[in-house]
Amino acid sequence: MPFQTIIEPFKIKAVEPIRLTTQAERAAILKRAYYNLFLIRAEEVIIDLLTDSGTAAMSSEQWAGVMRGDESYAGSRSYYFFEETVRDIFGFKHVIPVHQGRAAERILFALLCKPGSVIPNNTHFDTTRANIEYRGGRAVDLPCAELRDTTTPHPFKGNMDVDALKSLIREVGAENIPLVMLTITNNSGGGQPVSMANIRAVSEVCRAHNIPFYIDACRFAENAYFIKLREPGYADKTPLEIAREMFSYADGCTMSAKKDGLANIGGFLCTNDDKLAQQEKELLILTEGFPTYGGLAGRDLEAIAIGLREVLDEHYLQYRIASTRYLGEHIAREGVPIVQPPGGHAIYIDAGAMLPHIPPLQFPGQALAVELYRLGGVRSCEIGSVMFAGRDPETGEEVPAPRELVRLAIPRRVYTQSHVDYVVEVTLEAYRRREQLNGYRITWQTPFLRHFSCHFEPLGRV
Ligand code: F0G
Repeated sequence: MPFQTIIEPFKIKAVEPIRLTTQAERAAILKRAYYNLFLIRAEEVIIDLLTDSGTAAMSSEQWAGVMRGDESYAGSRSYYFFEETVRDIFGFKHVIPVHQGRAAERILFALLCKPGSVIPNNTHFDTTRANIEYRGGRAVDLPCAELRDTTTPHPFKGNMDVDALKSLIREVGAENIPLVMLTITNNSGGGQPVSMANIRAVSEVCRAHNIPFYIDACRFAENAYFIKLREPGYADKTPLEIAREMFSYADGCTMSAKKDGLANIGGFLCTNDDKLAQQEKELLILTEGFPTYGGLAGRDLEAIAIGLREVLDEHYLQYRIASTRYLGEHIAREGVPIVQPPGGHAIYIDAGAMLPHIPPLQFPGQALAVELYRLGGVRSCEIGSVMFAGRDPETGEEVPAPRELVRLAIPRRVYTQSHVDYVVEVTLEAYRRREQLNGYRITWQTPFLRHFSCHFEPLGRV
């Protein structure tokens, strides 16, 4: 009989010390950082769950690849190894390396998006949306209806609403939609997966209207594994086979290798369109670099190519999904409201539901994120009205974001189960103290992307 415990399928070869701070030290650090966790030094954090991007631990094989990296400007061996690997998994004709995901987005939208263009996605990630809006386009989110209900589990809450896509095409005209995107897994929608059936359906709609279909592939391996676990007909397929099928329905992809590339930097842009690829390479040379390195060192290309193989290992994916679920289940069963079911790379706590006494514009997510740091040195990320509040066009008043979430993103292969147990304990202590938490007020901010740098002041009880 197989044993039940799912272990980390790796041994630790190099360690990095964690500096343990006291609550009193952290209270002083918070004050100095104006209660903004982006303004705290990483060495003042005990468990860093700010992001799963660029924070993976590389394997001994990847480090060996770093030494093998060919740093030639043109025609580097490492590039050909990278290109061959990406082609084998993703299946696209042209593979263009870039320094990270948003560089792929910038090049793609610079060529395809113009003022008045409309670009649908299940849910756009912030940089994707920003790159579209920067070109004068409109980024439209079309998540499926199930995503709105955070409490009821559904196997594929990351899906796009295909009927809404059809209506949008009818409304604005296919000629104004230069491409349709699908983000797998849906990060801004709680790290929820997209089913193969949905990928196929979106692809069919795009084909019928002659609209190119692109996948934002950041967390493609996690998505493939969810398909294996949850979609009928895929249980006996390997993650590689599932990944190949997912991409076979698309015309291209953008990728941040900082996630499922298991690398600390890098990304790529793929397309099957020869003419577009030529134009993309011209833009690449302008700001990223020659097409056989694209803003990366040869050693980075090696690390990514090896990472893309390792991330599809079934034991790795089983552990990855189980460890995220473990955190989610252990806090949810004690009453902490989380987006259900747990996502692939992160757990999203519904701070609005947990702290109903703090109004949205006093930032319940920020209050919880600060408390997790103050109590246990755990750094998380507010995804609510600090990050996404809008403005009423008439009155100029701030309008709250649709949800007040706190994301606990899990770096890949970095933390052990006892680290996760510690995060559970800290979160449950914050939950027990929830009625004592107060809101915050912003005392200084920038006009765009304020969450990275704004200053807060704690509010007293109202
Ligand atoms: N697309 C998605 C779905 C992402 O999650 C990210 C980054 C990007 C694109 C941009 O990639 O950072 O390499 O330029 N997400 C990180 C996060 C930053 O914390 O969720 P990048």
